[in-house]
Amino acid sequence: MEKINVAIIGSGFIAEHHCHAYNLLPNVEIIGISSLEEDKAKELMNKYNISGKLVKNYEDLLKIDCEAISVCVPNFLHKKITIDVLNSGKHAFVEKPLAKTVSEAADMLEAEKTSNCKIFYCENNMYAPSFRKVKEILEEGALGQIYMGRGKEQHSGPHSAWFYKQKEAGGGALLDLGIHDIACLVWYLDCDVKEVFCQIKTIIPDREKFGNCEVEDNAVGVLYFENDAQVIIEESWTAPSGYDMRFELYGTEGQVKVAPTFSNLMSVYSETGYGYAVEKARTTKGWTFPVPAESWSFGYPQEIAHFIDCIINNKEPLTNGKFSQKILTVVETMYRSSKTNKIEEVLYE
Ligand SMILES: NC(=O)c1ccc[n+]([C@@H]2O[C@H](COP(=O)([O-])OP(=O)(O)OC[C@H]3O[C@@H](n4cnc5c(N)ncnc54)[C@H](O)[C@@H]3O)[C@@H](O)[C@H]2O)c1
Repeated sequence: MEKINVAIIGSGFIAEHHCHAYNLLPNVEIIGISSLEEDKAKELMNKYNISGKLVKNYEDLLKIDCEAISVCVPNFLHKKITIDVLNSGKHAFVEKPLAKTVSEAADMLEAEKTSNCKIFYCENNMYAPSFRKVKEILEEGALGQIYMGRGKEQHSGPHSAWFYKQKEAGGGALLDLGIHDIACLVWYLDCDVKEVFCQIKTIIPDREKFGNCEVEDNAVGVLYFENDAQVIIEESWTAPSGYDMRFELYGTEGQVKVAPTFSNLMSVYSETGYGYAVEKARTTKGWTFPVPAESWSFGYPQEIAHFIDCIINNKEPLTNGKFSQKILTVVETMYRSSKTNKIEEVLYE
Protein backbone atom coordinates (compact mmCIF):
# COMPACT_ATOMS: atom_id res chain seq x y z
CA MET A 1 0.00 0.00 0.00
CA GLU A 2 1.43 3.39 -0.99
CA LYS A 3 2.46 5.44 2.04
CA ILE A 4 1.30 9.05 2.20
CA ASN A 5 2.83 11.67 4.48
CA VAL A 6 0.70 14.62 5.52
CA ALA A 7 0.96 17.67 7.76
CA ILE A 8 -1.57 19.93 9.47
CA ILE A 9 -1.64 23.71 9.87
CA GLY A 10 -3.67 24.60 12.96
CA SER A 11 -4.41 22.69 16.14
CA GLY A 12 -7.94 23.82 16.94
CA PHE A 13 -11.36 22.22 16.66
CA ILE A 14 -11.22 20.96 13.08
CA ALA A 15 -7.52 20.05 13.19
CA GLU A 16 -8.46 17.43 15.78
CA HIS A 17 -10.97 15.88 13.34
CA HIS A 18 -8.21 15.76 10.71
CA CYS A 19 -5.85 14.06 13.22
CA HIS A 20 -8.51 11.48 14.05
CA ALA A 21 -9.29 10.85 10.37
CA TYR A 22 -5.63 10.49 9.31
CA ASN A 23 -4.98 8.16 12.24
CA LEU A 24 -7.62 5.74 11.02
CA LEU A 25 -5.70 5.23 7.77
CA PRO A 26 -2.85 2.70 8.10
CA ASN A 27 -0.90 4.12 5.14
CA VAL A 28 -1.00 7.75 6.29
CA GLU A 29 1.45 9.42 8.65
CA ILE A 30 1.17 12.92 10.09
CA ILE A 31 4.75 14.14 9.94
CA GLY A 32 4.25 17.69 11.13
CA ILE A 33 1.93 20.22 12.76
CA SER A 34 2.15 24.00 12.73
CA SER A 35 0.34 25.93 15.41
CA LEU A 36 0.45 29.20 17.25
CA GLU A 37 -0.70 27.34 20.37
CA GLU A 38 2.12 24.98 21.31
CA ASP A 39 0.22 23.44 24.25
CA LYS A 40 -2.83 22.58 22.18
CA ALA A 41 -0.67 21.10 19.41
CA LYS A 42 1.28 18.97 21.92
CA GLU A 43 -2.02 17.74 23.36
CA LEU A 44 -3.13 16.59 19.91
CA MET A 45 0.23 14.98 19.22
CA ASN A 46 0.02 12.98 22.45
CA LYS A 47 -3.61 12.02 22.01
CA TYR A 48 -3.15 10.83 18.42
CA ASN A 49 0.38 9.45 18.81
CA ILE A 50 1.88 11.88 16.32
CA SER A 51 5.66 11.73 16.35
CA GLY A 52 6.15 14.36 13.62
CA LYS A 53 7.62 17.84 13.89
CA LEU A 54 5.92 20.71 15.75
CA VAL A 55 6.65 24.19 14.33
CA LYS A 56 5.22 27.60 15.09
CA ASN A 57 5.68 29.15 11.67
CA TYR A 58 3.71 27.28 8.99
CA GLU A 59 6.34 28.23 6.39
CA ASP A 60 8.75 25.85 8.15
CA LEU A 61 6.22 23.06 7.63
CA LEU A 62 6.21 23.71 3.87
CA LYS A 63 9.88 22.61 3.74
CA ILE A 64 8.96 19.13 5.05
CA ASP A 65 8.63 16.34 2.50
CA CYS A 66 4.96 15.35 2.38
CA GLU A 67 2.15 14.93 -0.15
CA ALA A 68 -0.64 16.98 1.41
CA ILE A 69 -1.26 19.60 4.07
CA SER A 70 -4.52 20.24 5.92
CA VAL A 71 -5.37 23.95 6.11
CA CYS A 72 -7.23 24.16 9.45
CA VAL A 73 -6.90 27.86 10.24
CA PRO A 74 -9.32 30.82 10.48
CA ASN A 75 -10.96 31.85 7.20
CA PHE A 76 -8.87 35.00 6.66
CA LEU A 77 -5.75 32.84 6.37
CA HIS A 78 -7.14 30.33 3.86
CA LYS A 79 -6.07 32.23 0.74
CA LYS A 80 -2.45 32.95 1.65
CA ILE A 81 -1.73 29.64 3.34
CA THR A 82 -3.40 27.55 0.61
CA ILE A 83 -1.46 29.34 -2.14
CA ASP A 84 1.78 28.83 -0.20
CA VAL A 85 0.97 25.13 0.32
CA LEU A 86 0.26 24.63 -3.41
CA ASN A 87 3.38 26.53 -4.45
CA SER A 88 5.45 24.34 -2.13
CA GLY A 89 4.38 21.33 -4.21
CA LYS A 90 1.80 19.88 -1.80
CA HIS A 91 -1.89 19.25 -2.16
CA ALA A 92 -4.05 21.45 0.08
CA PHE A 93 -6.97 19.98 2.06
CA VAL A 94 -8.79 23.25 2.68
CA GLU A 95 -11.54 23.58 5.26
CA LYS A 96 -14.83 25.24 4.45
CA PRO A 97 -15.43 27.97 3.44
CA LEU A 98 -12.78 27.89 0.70
CA ALA A 99 -12.15 31.59 1.34
CA LYS A 100 -13.85 34.75 2.60
CA THR A 101 -14.73 35.96 -0.91
CA VAL A 102 -15.06 34.67 -4.46
CA SER A 103 -12.22 36.93 -5.52
CA GLU A 104 -9.90 35.28 -2.96
CA ALA A 105 -11.11 31.89 -4.21
CA ALA A 106 -10.24 32.87 -7.79
CA ASP A 107 -6.63 33.59 -6.75
CA MET A 108 -6.47 30.20 -5.03
CA LEU A 109 -7.79 28.40 -8.11
CA GLU A 110 -5.25 30.25 -10.25
CA ALA A 111 -2.45 29.02 -7.96
CA GLU A 112 -3.89 25.50 -8.24
CA LYS A 113 -3.67 25.72 -12.05
CA THR A 114 -0.02 26.72 -12.07
CA SER A 115 1.14 24.49 -9.22
CA ASN A 116 0.40 20.97 -10.48
CA CYS A 117 -1.17 20.30 -7.09
CA LYS A 118 -4.84 20.16 -6.11
CA ILE A 119 -7.25 21.85 -3.76
CA PHE A 120 -9.32 19.26 -1.92
CA TYR A 121 -12.32 21.00 -0.40
CA CYS A 122 -13.34 19.82 3.04
CA GLU A 123 -17.15 19.66 2.90
CA ASN A 124 -17.65 16.85 5.37
CA ASN A 125 -21.45 16.78 5.06
CA MET A 126 -21.14 15.37 1.54
CA TYR A 127 -19.31 12.39 3.05
CA ALA A 128 -21.70 11.86 6.00
CA PRO A 129 -23.42 8.45 5.76
CA SER A 130 -26.99 9.73 6.26
CA PHE A 131 -26.56 12.54 3.72
CA ARG A 132 -24.95 10.14 1.22
CA LYS A 133 -27.91 7.80 1.59
CA VAL A 134 -30.18 10.68 0.53
CA LYS A 135 -28.03 11.16 -2.57
CA GLU A 136 -28.30 7.45 -3.45
CA ILE A 137 -32.11 7.58 -3.12
CA LEU A 138 -32.27 10.71 -5.28
CA GLU A 139 -30.02 9.12 -7.92
CA GLU A 140 -32.39 6.16 -8.15
CA GLY A 141 -35.16 8.61 -9.02
CA ALA A 142 -37.18 7.40 -6.04
CA LEU A 143 -38.52 10.86 -5.24
CA GLY A 144 -39.22 11.97 -8.81
CA GLN A 145 -38.49 15.61 -9.63
CA ILE A 146 -37.52 17.65 -6.54
CA TYR A 147 -39.50 20.88 -6.54
CA MET A 148 -39.19 22.15 -2.97
CA GLY A 149 -37.13 21.64 0.16
CA ARG A 150 -35.51 22.92 3.28
CA GLY A 151 -31.98 22.82 4.67
CA LYS A 152 -31.05 23.87 8.17
CA GLU A 153 -28.02 24.10 10.46
CA GLN A 154 -28.20 25.49 13.96
CA HIS A 155 -26.18 25.69 17.15
CA SER A 156 -25.49 28.21 19.88
CA GLY A 157 -22.48 29.82 18.20
CA PRO A 158 -18.85 29.01 17.38
CA HIS A 159 -16.12 28.20 19.86
CA SER A 160 -13.44 30.83 18.98
CA ALA A 161 -13.49 34.63 18.95
CA TRP A 162 -12.33 34.99 15.32
CA PHE A 163 -15.60 33.52 13.97
CA TYR A 164 -17.46 36.62 15.26
CA LYS A 165 -15.15 39.17 13.58
CA GLN A 166 -15.94 40.38 10.08
CA LYS A 167 -12.31 40.77 8.97
CA GLU A 168 -11.26 37.34 10.18
CA ALA A 169 -14.34 35.28 9.35
CA GLY A 170 -15.70 37.14 6.31
CA GLY A 171 -19.28 36.36 7.34
CA GLY A 172 -21.41 34.79 10.03
CA ALA A 173 -23.94 31.95 10.22
CA LEU A 174 -24.62 32.08 6.47
CA LEU A 175 -20.98 31.63 5.48
CA ASP A 176 -20.15 29.26 8.33
CA LEU A 177 -23.22 26.98 8.28
CA GLY A 178 -25.14 27.89 5.13
CA ILE A 179 -22.15 26.87 3.05
CA HIS A 180 -22.71 23.24 4.18
CA ASP A 181 -26.39 23.29 3.24
CA ILE A 182 -25.82 24.92 -0.15
CA ALA A 183 -23.07 22.42 -1.06
CA CYS A 184 -25.31 19.44 -0.24
CA LEU A 185 -28.31 20.94 -2.01
CA VAL A 186 -26.37 21.64 -5.24
CA TRP A 187 -25.07 18.06 -5.05
CA TYR A 188 -28.52 16.64 -4.34
CA LEU A 189 -30.36 18.54 -7.06
CA ASP A 190 -27.44 18.11 -9.46
CA CYS A 191 -27.96 21.55 -10.94
CA ASP A 192 -26.89 25.10 -10.21
CA VAL A 193 -28.58 27.80 -8.19
CA LYS A 194 -29.94 30.44 -10.58
CA GLU A 195 -31.19 33.13 -8.19
CA VAL A 196 -31.27 33.73 -4.44
CA PHE A 197 -33.06 35.78 -1.81
CA CYS A 198 -31.67 36.26 1.70
CA GLN A 199 -32.27 38.15 4.94
CA ILE A 200 -29.68 38.27 7.73
CA LYS A 201 -29.80 39.45 11.36
CA THR A 202 -27.65 39.67 14.45
CA ILE A 203 -29.79 38.95 17.48
CA ILE A 204 -27.14 38.31 20.17
CA PRO A 205 -24.42 40.91 19.54
CA ASP A 206 -22.77 40.46 22.95
CA ARG A 207 -20.88 37.15 22.90
CA GLU A 208 -19.33 37.57 26.37
CA LYS A 209 -15.77 36.16 26.33
CA PHE A 210 -15.71 36.31 22.50
CA GLY A 211 -16.59 40.04 22.41
CA ASN A 212 -18.96 41.68 19.98
CA CYS A 213 -20.53 39.63 17.20
CA GLU A 214 -19.81 41.76 14.11
CA VAL A 215 -21.39 39.31 11.67
CA GLU A 216 -24.90 37.90 11.24
CA ASP A 217 -25.88 35.18 13.69
CA ASN A 218 -29.04 34.26 11.77
CA ALA A 219 -29.83 33.94 8.09
CA VAL A 220 -32.84 32.80 6.12
CA GLY A 221 -32.73 32.40 2.37
CA VAL A 222 -34.35 30.91 -0.69
CA LEU A 223 -32.36 29.16 -3.40
CA TYR A 224 -34.00 29.11 -6.83
CA PHE A 225 -32.48 26.26 -8.83
CA GLU A 226 -32.10 25.92 -12.59
CA ASN A 227 -34.58 23.01 -12.56
CA ASP A 228 -37.19 25.34 -10.96
CA ALA A 229 -36.92 23.86 -7.46
CA GLN A 230 -37.13 26.39 -4.63
CA VAL A 231 -35.39 25.50 -1.39
CA ILE A 232 -35.33 27.41 1.89
CA ILE A 233 -32.23 27.47 4.06
CA GLU A 234 -32.15 28.50 7.74
CA GLU A 235 -28.88 29.08 9.56
CA SER A 236 -28.51 30.06 13.20
CA TRP A 237 -25.84 30.68 15.82
CA THR A 238 -28.39 31.44 18.52
CA ALA A 239 -29.98 28.05 19.08
CA PRO A 240 -28.96 26.46 22.39
CA SER A 241 -28.93 22.67 22.82
CA GLY A 242 -26.31 21.47 20.38
CA TYR A 243 -25.72 20.99 16.68
CA ASP A 244 -28.92 20.51 14.68
CA MET A 245 -28.63 19.75 10.97
CA ARG A 246 -31.38 18.51 8.69
CA PHE A 247 -32.85 18.46 5.21
CA GLU A 248 -36.33 17.95 3.86
CA LEU A 249 -36.75 17.41 0.13
CA TYR A 250 -40.07 17.15 -1.66
CA GLY A 251 -40.44 15.51 -5.07
CA THR A 252 -43.21 14.54 -7.45
CA GLU A 253 -42.89 10.87 -6.39
CA GLY A 254 -41.91 11.15 -2.75
CA GLN A 255 -40.10 13.00 0.01
CA VAL A 256 -37.14 12.57 2.36
CA LYS A 257 -36.39 14.01 5.79
CA VAL A 258 -32.92 13.47 7.19
CA ALA A 259 -31.34 14.58 10.46
CA PRO A 260 -28.10 13.01 11.69
CA THR A 261 -28.48 15.05 14.89
CA PHE A 262 -31.64 15.35 17.05
CA SER A 263 -32.85 12.21 15.32
CA ASN A 264 -34.91 9.49 16.93
CA LEU A 265 -31.99 7.06 16.68
CA MET A 266 -31.33 7.51 20.40
CA SER A 267 -33.03 9.59 23.09
CA VAL A 268 -31.80 9.77 26.66
CA TYR A 269 -33.42 11.26 29.74
CA SER A 270 -31.04 11.90 32.64
CA GLU A 271 -31.47 13.99 35.80
CA THR A 272 -27.73 13.85 36.59
CA GLY A 273 -26.33 14.26 33.06
CA TYR A 274 -23.50 12.30 31.45
CA GLY A 275 -20.27 12.93 29.55
CA TYR A 276 -21.05 14.10 26.01
CA ALA A 277 -24.05 14.15 23.70
CA VAL A 278 -23.24 16.13 20.56
CA GLU A 279 -21.12 19.08 19.40
CA LYS A 280 -22.02 22.34 21.18
CA ALA A 281 -24.68 20.84 23.48
CA ARG A 282 -24.29 22.71 26.78
CA THR A 283 -25.95 20.08 28.94
CA THR A 284 -26.64 16.38 29.03
CA LYS A 285 -29.41 16.73 31.63
CA GLY A 286 -33.05 16.17 30.76
CA TRP A 287 -33.91 14.79 27.34
CA THR A 288 -30.89 14.58 25.02
CA PHE A 289 -30.18 13.00 21.65
CA PRO A 290 -26.58 11.76 21.58
CA VAL A 291 -24.91 11.09 18.23
CA PRO A 292 -23.03 7.78 18.26
CA ALA A 293 -19.64 7.84 16.46
CA GLU A 294 -20.07 11.57 15.90
CA SER A 295 -17.00 12.11 13.73
CA TRP A 296 -18.07 9.23 11.46
CA SER A 297 -21.71 10.41 11.40
CA PHE A 298 -20.50 13.84 10.29
CA GLY A 299 -18.33 12.36 7.52
CA TYR A 300 -14.88 13.61 8.54
CA PRO A 301 -12.92 10.31 8.25
CA GLN A 302 -14.69 9.34 5.02
CA GLU A 303 -13.82 12.74 3.49
CA ILE A 304 -10.10 12.39 4.33
CA ALA A 305 -10.04 8.74 3.17
CA HIS A 306 -11.54 9.86 -0.16
CA PHE A 307 -8.88 12.58 -0.57
CA ILE A 308 -6.04 10.13 0.13
CA ASP A 309 -7.55 7.66 -2.37
CA CYS A 310 -7.72 10.47 -4.95
CA ILE A 311 -4.02 11.27 -4.42
CA ILE A 312 -2.92 7.65 -4.70
CA ASN A 313 -5.07 6.88 -7.73
CA ASN A 314 -4.89 10.34 -9.34
CA LYS A 315 -8.66 10.85 -9.20
CA GLU A 316 -10.68 14.06 -9.08
CA PRO A 317 -12.25 14.60 -5.65
CA LEU A 318 -16.03 14.87 -5.25
CA THR A 319 -15.42 18.24 -3.63
CA ASN A 320 -12.77 20.05 -5.67
CA GLY A 321 -11.66 23.69 -5.83
CA LYS A 322 -14.04 24.61 -8.65
CA PHE A 323 -17.03 23.18 -6.75
CA SER A 324 -16.14 25.10 -3.59
CA GLN A 325 -15.82 28.36 -5.55
CA LYS A 326 -19.28 27.77 -7.02
CA ILE A 327 -20.80 27.32 -3.56
CA LEU A 328 -19.03 30.44 -2.29
CA THR A 329 -20.47 32.38 -5.24
CA VAL A 330 -23.98 31.44 -4.09
CA VAL A 331 -23.19 32.61 -0.54
CA GLU A 332 -21.73 35.91 -1.77
CA THR A 333 -24.84 36.52 -3.89
CA MET A 334 -27.01 35.85 -0.82
CA TYR A 335 -25.12 38.57 1.07
CA ARG A 336 -25.80 40.87 -1.88
CA SER A 337 -29.50 40.02 -1.74
CA SER A 338 -29.60 40.73 2.01
CA LYS A 339 -28.37 44.25 1.23
CA THR A 340 -30.57 44.98 -1.80
CA ASN A 341 -33.64 43.19 -0.35
CA LYS A 342 -34.17 41.72 -3.80
CA ILE A 343 -33.90 38.38 -5.52
CA GLU A 344 -30.40 38.37 -7.04
CA GLU A 345 -29.07 36.40 -9.99
CA VAL A 346 -26.04 34.21 -9.23
CA LEU A 347 -23.24 35.10 -11.66
CA TYR A 348 -20.62 32.36 -11.77
CA GLU A 349 -16.99 32.94 -12.89
N1 LIG B 1 -16.04 21.10 8.32
C1 LIG B 1 -16.57 21.60 9.42
O1 LIG B 1 -17.65 21.22 9.82
C2 LIG B 1 -15.81 22.62 10.20
C3 LIG B 1 -16.02 22.73 11.58
C4 LIG B 1 -15.30 23.69 12.27
C5 LIG B 1 -14.41 24.53 11.60
N2 LIG B 1 -14.25 24.42 10.26
C6 LIG B 1 -13.36 25.33 9.54
O2 LIG B 1 -12.01 25.06 9.91
C7 LIG B 1 -11.25 26.26 9.98
C8 LIG B 1 -10.64 26.36 11.39
O3 LIG B 1 -11.70 26.39 12.33
P1 LIG B 1 -11.53 25.80 13.82
O4 LIG B 1 -12.90 25.57 14.30
O5 LIG B 1 -10.56 24.70 13.85
O6 LIG B 1 -10.93 27.08 14.53
P2 LIG B 1 -10.18 27.13 15.92
O7 LIG B 1 -10.28 28.52 16.39
O8 LIG B 1 -10.65 26.02 16.79
O9 LIG B 1 -8.68 26.80 15.52
C9 LIG B 1 -7.92 27.63 14.67
C10 LIG B 1 -6.48 27.16 14.72
O10 LIG B 1 -5.71 27.89 13.77
C11 LIG B 1 -4.44 28.15 14.36
N3 LIG B 1 -3.78 29.24 13.66
C12 LIG B 1 -4.19 30.52 13.52
N4 LIG B 1 -3.30 31.22 12.80
C13 LIG B 1 -2.30 30.34 12.48
C14 LIG B 1 -1.09 30.45 11.75
N5 LIG B 1 -0.69 31.59 11.20
N6 LIG B 1 -0.30 29.34 11.64
C15 LIG B 1 -0.68 28.18 12.18
N7 LIG B 1 -1.82 28.01 12.90
C16 LIG B 1 -2.60 29.09 13.03
C17 LIG B 1 -4.77 28.46 15.80
O11 LIG B 1 -3.62 28.35 16.60
C18 LIG B 1 -5.81 27.37 16.06
O12 LIG B 1 -5.16 26.17 16.43
C19 LIG B 1 -12.22 27.40 9.65
O13 LIG B 1 -12.07 27.75 8.32
C20 LIG B 1 -13.60 26.79 9.89
O14 LIG B 1 -14.61 27.34 9.09
C21 LIG B 1 -14.90 23.46 9.56
